[in-house]
Amino acid sequence: MPDAPSLIYRSAAGYELVMRALYGRHYRARLRAVADQVPSGSSVLELCPGPGALYRRHLRGRVSAYTGVEVNAGFADHLRRLGATVVQRDLTAPGPLPEADVAIIQASLYHFLPAADTIVQQMLTAARQRVIIAEPIRNLSSSRLGWLAALGRHGTDPGAGDGHEQRFDEGSLDRLMAAYGDVTTAAFTIPGGREKVFVLDPGQGPAPDPGQGPAPDPGRVPAPTGRPGKAAGP
Ligand SMILES: C[S@@+](CC[C@H](N)C(=O)[O-])C[C@H]1O[C@@H](n2cnc3c(N)ncnc32)[C@H](O)[C@@H]1O
Repeated sequence: MPDAPSLIYRSAAGYELVMRALYGRHYRARLRAVADQVPSGSSVLELCPGPGALYRRHLRGRVSAYTGVEVNAGFADHLRRLGATVVQRDLTAPGPLPEADVAIIQASLYHFLPAADTIVQQMLTAARQRVIIAEPIRNLSSSRLGWLAALGRHGTDPGAGDGHEQRFDEGSLDRLMAAYGDVTTAAFTIPGGREKVFVLDPGQGPAPDPGQGPAPDPGRVPAPTGRPGKAAGP
């Protein structure tokens, strides 16, 4: 059932404060790592943009068009005030995504577990040139700061319903993304190692059905090592 968003998602300023504390000196690098993969002049679709740090710091003025799809009304309003086009929508509800050259999701794929592959497939359909997936592989709840750890355990319900406790670790993320090995053009961790970025080329043919297991040659993606669990993520 939909409910009020958790504390971490109630204000744009509060959210950015938590993210800055969490990523420390690597906070800027996490945004830049994704922005660097976006060709100038391309049109961008960002799923789950939150209050829009990626748009505000790196994409506004550099891309030809930008659309965010975000369930949180406060974040959506904030992003609109920055000048972005925003669709306020729960992405677990059926419906096609707006098309764009580049589709991005950062630090949000875990919200869609155990059906995260559905989002990846939708992004491959929506994107003409590139899909960028950046996902935490180390846990906020493992933070040395007690208040951050508590937020990590209890504080990331976007207000779209139950769930959201599951997280990726590097092994479970690699296992999901191995199904897209044939269309993956780059895979790397951001400075500090808290997030891993995958760049997919939707033009390289249909991705295999994730239900059929890893692609025959997942060589460009590190081999899966872990199990899905209550691990990484804000
Ligand atoms: C951890 S934040 C990430 C925000 C931003 N991408 C970043 O990296 O800072 C996750 C975002 O996903 C949004 N979200 C979670 N579930 C969603 C859903 N079902 N539909 C649309 N947005 C959702 C939340 O409201 C929140 O803004």
